Amino acid sequence: MTRVSMRVDGVTYTDEVEPRTLLVHHLREALGKVGTVVGCDTSNCGACTVHLDGQAVKSCTVLAVQADGAEVTTIEGIGSTDALHPVQKAFHEQHGLQCGFCTPGMIMASIDLLKENPSPSEDEVREGIEGNLCRCTGYQNIVRAVQQAAREMSGTSETLGAQS
Ligand code: FES
Ligand code: FES
Repeated sequence: MTRVSMRVDGVTYTDEVEPRTLLVHHLREALGKVGTVVGCDTSNCGACTVHLDGQAVKSCTVLAVQADGAEVTTIEGIGSTDALHPVQKAFHEQHGLQCGFCTPGMIMASIDLLKENPSPSEDEVREGIEGNLCRCTGYQNIVRAVQQAAREMSGTSETLGAQS
């Protein structure tokens, strides 16, 4: 076992982990962060996406020991029921989900995309979230949600209005 310490959603946790433990399993099973989900375990679907020191990563591709000393943000750390993150709010308003399984990872990837590119075109949104798979929506409303969030985060939503 190896001792790891990481700050997750603003709280520092120190635990003993097996060296082979994946970050996603550590988050879910040791820390109870079940908002981060496992869709494939083979780095294909993106459902497990979290931010590791500010960068979106698929947490099934990272060992918990690799996150020792890191800052991790999960879907549970970006907003609250009373104060949704603008990307969460936009997914809700644009119906950017159906079953919702891909949504935590999709939102975390989208936040990272908007940090890199605050005003992405439709093509840039599609390219930015290409590592995240959704088997329900056909992606159209997800793209609209990301673009709505971009407008709101840059303060231009009132002038442009939300697409529908
Ligand atoms: S569970 Fe990590 S990419 Fe699918
Ligand atoms: S909403 Fe079901 S997988 Fe995306």
